Amino acid sequence: MPVSARLASDLATSGVLRGVRIACSLIVEPKTAVLVERLSEAGAMVGVYCHAHECDQRMADEIASRGYAIEANASWTPAEEREGALRLLDDLQPNVIIDDGANLARLLVMERPELLPGLVGVAEETTSGVRAFQAMADANELPFPVVAVNDSQLKTKFDNRHGTGETCVTTALRLLGPDAFTDARVCVIGYGPVGEGFSRRVRALGARVTIVDIDPVMSLEARFAGFEVSSIEEALPSSDVVVSATGVRHTLPLELLRLMRNDARVVVIGGIANEVALDEVAVAGGSVASTATPGLSRLEVAGGPTLVLLASGDGVNYAAGPGNPIQIMDFSFAVQLCAVDYLLRNRGLLPAGVHRLPGEEDRRIATLALEARGANPLPYETPVVLVPDWRRTRYADTVVSPDGSAHD
Ligand SMILES: NC(=O)c1ccc[n+]([C@@H]2O[C@H](COP(=O)([O-])OP(=O)(O)OC[C@H]3O[C@@H](n4cnc5c(N)ncnc54)[C@H](O)[C@@H]3O)[C@@H](O)[C@H]2O)c1
Repeated sequence: MPVSARLASDLATSGVLRGVRIACSLIVEPKTAVLVERLSEAGAMVGVYCHAHECDQRMADEIASRGYAIEANASWTPAEEREGALRLLDDLQPNVIIDDGANLARLLVMERPELLPGLVGVAEETTSGVRAFQAMADANELPFPVVAVNDSQLKTKFDNRHGTGETCVTTALRLLGPDAFTDARVCVIGYGPVGEGFSRRVRALGARVTIVDIDPVMSLEARFAGFEVSSIEEALPSSDVVVSATGVRHTLPLELLRLMRNDARVVVIGGIANEVALDEVAVAGGSVASTATPGLSRLEVAGGPTLVLLASGDGVNYAAGPGNPIQIMDFSFAVQLCAVDYLLRNRGLLPAGVHRLPGEEDRRIATLALEARGANPLPYETPVVLVPDWRRTRYADTVVSPDGSAHD
């Protein structure tokens, strides 16, 4: 990860992280461990929390053996996860939280408000977390600045689109077999960058893709990209594979699951709790049972079909695969490092609310990424001049100065 390495080394030189307590609430896997080490080498005191289904236990043990505070255990129950998260907050008392899904920071607001004065801000990794913080801001209940790492171009255009497009597909192929998408009817729900990246890749593997999106603009974009577009009620009964790329709770509620055909495969690539409404399935008397193949479960829908559920309904690429590719996480972590730097440099100046990083940060990361690939771009400090002198027109391409002199 050469780009994030370079930015971490700049942070170490600047000293801005010295003594800063940073809580990372991220998927625990090897790339995250590298981020933890880089933050630490740059002078921060780093602690880690991770949900059970996102935890690579070997990596959690390795992080612990290197002396970092870590609260993560792949076999934890939800109650134990909450206790672990609170322990990390109490022990570390973070100045900055690197969050993924806004879970740790919301827990702090709700259950440890006494820690708020020490919190400089939060850097949020993903779309669903940014949505949650924005909802808090809209309700006037967000007490600190949040940098929406997700909304930087170097995150959304690469991690969400290419990263998930690659790893969600390869993980699904590993679980379902190499011809899982060949001539398969695939319904993708949600045509944001994540849904788009996935759809383009499975189409290249021979799938017949139908897009369902509640936003007509996104549906139109999908149509112009050559996909079928339909209502969910029309698409589900004939689909072999149904994919939720929304990050919205109850995208597939019980009544829609009942429309699906027996043995259809259900894949989540967004990744919020109950994106497939397993809570409603349980209340209605249905069940989820593991199969002999790790990562695949039988989902019995009471009054409906029996389905094949991947990764227990969690995001398939990180719950049953290796997470996004290292080349892509290099950019996402680079944005995270810029966000932490931005929060600390503007300590006390940023109002509570959701903030986007300035465009120079995207250009700086892109420049480093191009250099790492042997390209020779203009330095990122070079201004991108897109704003014309409005006085130049087709009728007069000469500008007259206030003193009456004309110049080209
Ligand atoms: N698996 C991963 O590694 C990974 C990586 C990045 C992002 N994500 C997650 O993926 C999800 C999608 O990210 P994105 O950046 O594409 O988000 P986005 O908000 O840009 O796109 C989501 C789309 O879903 C549509 N939608 C929402 N609810 C719907 C419904 N019930 N039916 C049909 N359409 C619906 C919206 O109109 C929108 O177009 C988020 O939860 C994000 O956090 C996962």
